Amino acid sequence: MPPRPCRIVIAGFGNVGRSLVKLILEREGIIRDRYGIDIVIVGIADSSGFVIDPEGFGRETLTRLLEAPRGGLARTCIGMVRHDVVDVIDETVPDFLLDLTPANYDTGEPGLTYIVNAIRRGVNVVTANKAPLVLKYDYLMSLSRSRNVKFGYRATVFGGVPVIDVLRHLSAHRILKVEGIVNATTNYILSRVFYDGLSLSQAIDEARRIGVMEANPALDLEGIDAAAKIAIIANTLGISMTLKDVERIGITSLSEEEIDRLRKEGKVVKLIAELDVEKRRASVRPVPLDSSDDLAQVKYLLNAVRIVSDLNNIVIKGVGGGPAETAVNVLSELIELACQQ
Ligand SMILES: NC(=O)c1ccc[n+]([C@@H]2O[C@H](COP(=O)([O-])OP(=O)(O)OC[C@H]3O[C@@H](n4cnc5c(N)ncnc54)[C@H](OP(=O)(O)O)[C@@H]3O)[C@@H](O)[C@H]2O)c1
Repeated sequence: MPPRPCRIVIAGFGNVGRSLVKLILEREGIIRDRYGIDIVIVGIADSSGFVIDPEGFGRETLTRLLEAPRGGLARTCIGMVRHDVVDVIDETVPDFLLDLTPANYDTGEPGLTYIVNAIRRGVNVVTANKAPLVLKYDYLMSLSRSRNVKFGYRATVFGGVPVIDVLRHLSAHRILKVEGIVNATTNYILSRVFYDGLSLSQAIDEARRIGVMEANPALDLEGIDAAAKIAIIANTLGISMTLKDVERIGITSLSEEEIDRLRKEGKVVKLIAELDVEKRRASVRPVPLDSSDDLAQVKYLLNAVRIVSDLNNIVIKGVGGGPAETAVNVLSELIELACQQ
């Protein structure tokens, strides 16, 4: 049987978007042979606009687009330039829109508009962008159900580890609590402080210098990114909440005196995101742990989540984010959803 085309529009051509296009170019043969799917990229956007080709961009053209500087897609003279996502969808008729745009927790934009317009036109969505979900989870899910559209968001929590999928496969468990270290940057900073003896400000400066910090440091340091992830976990478990429902204390609340005292007591502080399922409450805050605690052993850029059910304690651990890890999760979910079509 000839491979089935899966036409995609990629909104966001930054770290994750570019990793994804490289991955598709690298693995298109395997995807075709193993799953019978031919991924056809019909549109790509960055902040300069969308470039589209309803016939699909070829290998050579995609390689040229990858050479374009950040923010330079619309000036490449490749494909046709469009600025309205509705025109893009109408002209390219994609099967999927992938939202890989930056997370704006005030408005959800630009991702929210892209996602809503895609769903309204019957286009399936896969997103790595947390913001639209933590502002409008219920609305987006009911809209996609009403239009019979698939909505994948695995890469929003632990870009590289399929926590959301594990949670979805525990339907018969009574989940009591989900807790964990869900932000790699603050875990790196706290690891440098509690294992390597740096001061908090030295460790924050280092995280900034080596490029593991978000462009807006508050997203990491004030626990906003972690709060968004625990809110998405809550919604996945049927507990409706938005970002502002998560109680939040960031790591900047720790004083050097407190850090000294906790070090002397043999404690390790971790930024813990917690969902109490029974009380339907979520929080993010720095928590001193005994060094023997499972979560205290999760160091530097690793993330981990502990799912406590009436029958089991399931711990999932791995590198949470990173463009390549996130792109591979986005692509896996795209393939899985495309196979269900
Ligand atoms: N990086 C990770 O490890 C990771 C892990 C999990 C989830 N995520 C999420 O994945 C998303 C992408 O992350 P990233 O690291 O790739 O971010 P990024 O490097 O900042 O890339 C964002 C892309 O979106 C583009 N963009 C900005 N405004 C746009 C608009 N109005 N229309 C279309 N495109 C627009 C940017 O354009 P320019 O190139 O012109 O700036 C850029 O190409 C974010 O929501 C992030 O939170 C990232």
